[in-house]
Amino acid sequence: MTIRTGVVDGVATIEIARPEKKNALTMAMYDAMTDAIEAAGSDPAVRALLITGQPGVFTSGNDLEDFMQRPPAGPDSSVFRFMRALEACEKPVVAAVTGAAVGIGTTMLLHCDFVFVSDEARLAMPFVGLGLVPEYGSSLLIPRLMGHVKAAEKLLLGDPFTGADAVDCGIANAVLPASEVLPHARRVAERFNHLAPSAVRESKRLMKAPQRELLQQVIATEAELFGQRLRSPEAREAFQAFFEKRKPDFTKFQ
Ligand code: COA
Repeated sequence: MTIRTGVVDGVATIEIARPEKKNALTMAMYDAMTDAIEAAGSDPAVRALLITGQPGVFTSGNDLEDFMQRPPAGPDSSVFRFMRALEACEKPVVAAVTGAAVGIGTTMLLHCDFVFVSDEARLAMPFVGLGLVPEYGSSLLIPRLMGHVKAAEKLLLGDPFTGADAVDCGIANAVLPASEVLPHARRVAERFNHLAPSAVRESKRLMKAPQRELLQQVIATEAELFGQRLRSPEAREAFQAFFEKRKPDFTKFQ
């Protein structure tokens, strides 16, 4: 079971559990998470959602073998359905980031409402290094959060950054010792058991409304480019290099 789900005390939990592959996400895992988000959305007993990983790893992002064998094709693909469900979720979503959060592992945090990170967390959006482009709104949201030059470090150079950096640049709420991240995130999620649920949902909608239309346009543009890039020789070289445990050689490309 690589995605574990359950509802306890008003909180629907999604736990990514594929530690042997650093919690890399396959299509089946996206589908399971989409189902869990949709079920939580329509269950009146659920007041908030909690997404977490395993000790030392939140997720290493999309499974790169899946990317090579079955590149996501359009808005009905598993990864898109998952991100759409997360972005559209009306209830508060809390993320407990227990370690590495790579690629979509960081992108998904931009669509959560609260993000708690461990002092050993390492976030990264290494899309360019994989011959790809930013995805699911990150080319809009990251520069808006931290300004162009800091965004360029993260998106153009793909530099990894710490939990403390994530707090500084507005991606995360707080850094905690690793053992305290999940209990703290759960306590925050459980606070919604005592708050007026419709007022919470309406407030979340208001917070997101001003840039929703633009965000959807950017997501569509990114998706088109991302699909093209996945099939590019640059991406093929990068993926092969990862599995051959070597650095990619982009010198042959113009
Ligand atoms: N897709 C598929 N397999 C992955 C993976 C991914 N995204 N991330 C890790 N794995 C696999 C590795 O191939 C390795 O498998 P093996 O044991 O069969 O060789 C195993 O998980 C352990 O990974 P490893 O790289 O040895 O662990 P690490 O602790 O040294 O590094 C990461 C952890 C997360 C920093 C590193 O695995 C990584 O950079 N992964 C790729 C991240 C990425 O580019 N994601 C996609 C972004 S779009």
